[in-house]
Amino acid sequence: EKVILAYSGGLDTTAIIPWLKENYDYDVICCCIDVGQESELDGLDERAKLSGAEKLYILDVIDEFCDEYVVPCVQANAVYENKYLLGTSMARPIIAKKLVEIARKEGATAICHGATGKGNDQVRFELGIKALAPDLKIIAPWRCNETWGMNSREEEIEYCKAHGIDLPFSADSSYSRDRNLWHISHEGLELEDPAAEPDYDHLLVLGVSPEKAPEEAEYVTMTFEKGIPTSLNGKEMKVSDIIKELNKLGGKHGIGIIDIVENRVVGMKSRGVYETPGGTILMEAHQQLEELILDRATYTVKKEMGNKFADIVYEGKWFTPLREAVQAFIESTQQYVTGEVKFKLYKGNIIKAGTTSPYSLYSESLASFTTGELYDHHDAEGFINLFGLPLKVRAMKMQNVEKN
Ligand code: ARG
Ligand code: SIN
Repeated sequence: EKVILAYSGGLDTTAIIPWLKENYDYDVICCCIDVGQESELDGLDERAKLSGAEKLYILDVIDEFCDEYVVPCVQANAVYENKYLLGTSMARPIIAKKLVEIARKEGATAICHGATGKGNDQVRFELGIKALAPDLKIIAPWRCNETWGMNSREEEIEYCKAHGIDLPFSADSSYSRDRNLWHISHEGLELEDPAAEPDYDHLLVLGVSPEKAPEEAEYVTMTFEKGIPTSLNGKEMKVSDIIKELNKLGGKHGIGIIDIVENRVVGMKSRGVYETPGGTILMEAHQQLEELILDRATYTVKKEMGNKFADIVYEGKWFTPLREAVQAFIESTQQYVTGEVKFKLYKGNIIKAGTTSPYSLYSESLASFTTGELYDHHDAEGFINLFGLPLKVRAMKMQNVEKN
């Protein structure tokens, strides 16, 4: 029998290979899904085989990730608990989907992942797998206390050695990180104490802190068509390239670093520092356009739907009818989200430098203080009388009650 292992090439997932063979007698098919983590893919094949795997798949799914998972989140302005741009969350469903596809192709009966028993990722992987392939067995070694029993990198290295795998892994523990094209997360070490200040020089991977950013501001221009990013600084590009370029710019100017104590779905609070340099700029630009284009009532409902979407993505409920329905609503609001946004980037700040759209509902003559045709100041008086009627009625009643 075959098992598909979600493989990163790191120590944790490498130690899982001999563990699977020892405890289940499976043929192990490793699968590395490239969502832009920029890990060393060279030598991965050799490493997997040396560790006892039958086969290694490396799948570049960066464009599919951007077009089908990132873009809907941008359009929804999906932000979890006011801060987190969901970088890890949005990548888990596509990974689950690819693992299932390979399982089918290989005729495997099980899928194995290396997420811990305390986190969100186990939930996301497993809800994804259950939704797409309810018949497949799921194996999560970190939850197998009796057989896994490895609690440190040293123990994992020992276990590998005992099984004839002698690879140059470092025993030093670092932050728990997860990277893809959209973001990198950092958890663990000193961050586990919310009272501790992060050591940014040592922590940051995608950019610098605002203090270290250049003294000169830099302009960036983006265009969107129907809510989809289409160009950067005048050059048409696919979404993944726009994000790559924006990551460089945002990283350089200290943009998109957040420090959050979030509520995990498994019940605990956890503290993390996330870098989303390009994504932060892109989402801000998209929002900028929506400010001009969406009418007030649509904007209000869309904000609620966007928050709902964020929760759905965070909770790993991607492959559900609810996600599809909410996404359909969001998509229908994007029909006129077309235009150009210009920003100035400066020491962690995104400063507006002008937004234009052929569908802008903003009317300068209507908004300006001089009187025009369309808006008669006198109409406002009647409007306020009716708009304020219920609170006036209540206030009159209270006056009466207090008198008696
Ligand atoms: N707390 C974030 C989330 O739940 C980041 C998780 C990072 N995952 C990891 N395997 N390091 O989405
Ligand atoms: C993990 O526990 O595997 C990483 C953190 C998380 O999933 O929330």
